[in-house]
Amino acid sequence: MNPKQAAADRGASLVQSGMALGLGSGTTSTLMVQAIGRKLREGTLRDIVGVPSSSAIAAVARESGVPLATLDERPALDLNLDGADEVDPNLDLIKGLGGALLWEKIVATAAREVVILVDDSKLVSRLGTKAPLPVEVVPFGWKCHLAFIASLGGAPTLRVEPDGKPFVTDEGNYILHCRFEGGIANPAGLEAKLLGRAGIVGTGLFLGVAHRVIVGKPDGVEVLTQKG
Ligand code: A5P
Repeated sequence: MNPKQAAADRGASLVQSGMALGLGSGTTSTLMVQAIGRKLREGTLRDIVGVPSSSAIAAVARESGVPLATLDERPALDLNLDGADEVDPNLDLIKGLGGALLWEKIVATAAREVVILVDDSKLVSRLGTKAPLPVEVVPFGWKCHLAFIASLGGAPTLRVEPDGKPFVTDEGNYILHCRFEGGIANPAGLEAKLLGRAGIVGTGLFLGVAHRVIVGKPDGVEVLTQKG
């Protein structure tokens, strides 16, 4: 089986009737939401509600017949299922290459349990070795963050659409993709510095957020659990 599908199906199998769910974004989350939709149609799952972390996954949920609520309507979630771009040995993550990092982090924060669904290509020994770190900034004065991020060791570029216009998040912000040569040595320190700056509203560092990571592999899944 496709490793992403295997992780998505295992994630969907954790959902129980009556749950309020956080719905992550991206291709693996799309497979997970579609799997939940199939269970609802088969009648093996009922009375669930999903809080979407992006307009894109909300559309997938609607197509799949998964009932939706806003986070304001359901501010306490039983389970959040989402993908990731990188997972390190502490189960710290880089997320947001789909552009939904701010809403994803807010939804994850509202959940009692956060389970991340990835294929094994996402496992890294150090965050930032494969993926750039997405940093969400308000459009006003965005260029003034470039030198600041460079002073922290990052090489930022504005995320753009194929037509060259800035990519705009669901929240109306821009994203800077920041490459760190050799990876991010001190993710917590970097996170604190970035979030301490006016105009930076979110980063793709999800530190201490994941309780479990389900890793899809060609021959099945492996479940990693946060230590402590
Ligand atoms: C969306 O903004 C991201 O955080 C995704 O969860 C992440 O990029 C993983 O996406 P895939 O499941 O498509 O690899």
